[in-house]
Amino acid sequence: KKRVILSTDPGIDDIAATTFLLFDPQVDLRMIVATWGNVSLKYTLQNALKLETFLHTKVPVVVGANQPLVRPAISAASVHGETGIAGYEFPKEDTSLIKKGLAATLMHEEIQNSPEKVTLMGIGPLTDFALLFKQYPEDLEKIEEIVIMGGNIGHGNHSPFAEYNIAGDPEAAQIVLQSGLPTKIAPLEIGNKAHITASELDKIKACGEVGNMLYSLFSNIHEPDGDTRIKIYDPTAVGILLQPEFFNLKPAHIEIELAGRYTYGASVMDFLSDNPNTEVATDVDTHKFAEWFIEEIKQADQG
Ligand code: BDR
Ligand code: CA
Repeated sequence: KKRVILSTDPGIDDIAATTFLLFDPQVDLRMIVATWGNVSLKYTLQNALKLETFLHTKVPVVVGANQPLVRPAISAASVHGETGIAGYEFPKEDTSLIKKGLAATLMHEEIQNSPEKVTLMGIGPLTDFALLFKQYPEDLEKIEEIVIMGGNIGHGNHSPFAEYNIAGDPEAAQIVLQSGLPTKIAPLEIGNKAHITASELDKIKACGEVGNMLYSLFSNIHEPDGDTRIKIYDPTAVGILLQPEFFNLKPAHIEIELAGRYTYGASVMDFLSDNPNTEVATDVDTHKFAEWFIEEIKQADQG
């Protein structure tokens, strides 16, 4: 089993990705770090707790970063709703799932106490992983790899050239990407391509209680550009971790633009570099991905 630490900002697609990590038999999810991101930390933390309360799972939830490292926070409440989980009434959160302490230190302890290397997955702004790497650089050698949903090959969804998770904390993303760790990236384009069709949405609804929860959330995603396709970005990172054969992964060197007046937060991906620091998914088998996606939901429903 892969031992995974997840950093997430739930967020509708985060809820799906986290559900998969909680129930997939290939994964031993060790810790959920809730970070500021799609909405404020108050809600992302509440949402992570609400999800686990709903699913009756008991993975410790850690209070992550409240703000990006340098610039003020941004918000995606227009996409995910004011609370981040528009469209579904979750039960009241069980706060006893919270593991108290600083996220970087709790991750460090988990990594150092682990009998084998740990995988990091980031599906929100990367603030907490950057803090971990700065505070405990010795942990790098105990990390298997880091899988990130973030960045864009072409145009962005936050600004013309920046994707939301990277735009949320560009300095943190730059620290993480220059860490030297093996890194796999699910960029914006892959989420766009792996969107959910109407017939798949019907299948999801029919899955059971978890399917119905995800159906309600997905039906309430609001794409700012008016696109009616349901794009589920974060689960594509789970797909890359567990089903890499569905993806075309290409080596690339990524630098985050930190000085651009109009391009701040852009992930500059150089596929011609002879010094790659990532593998970027450039294509996905949408049919296989959709089948897997529905299987993951069924598995969660059987709990
Ligand atoms: C990313 O931004 C968030 O809105 C989603 O949860 C996803 O992590 C897509 O750009
Ligand atoms: Ca997210």
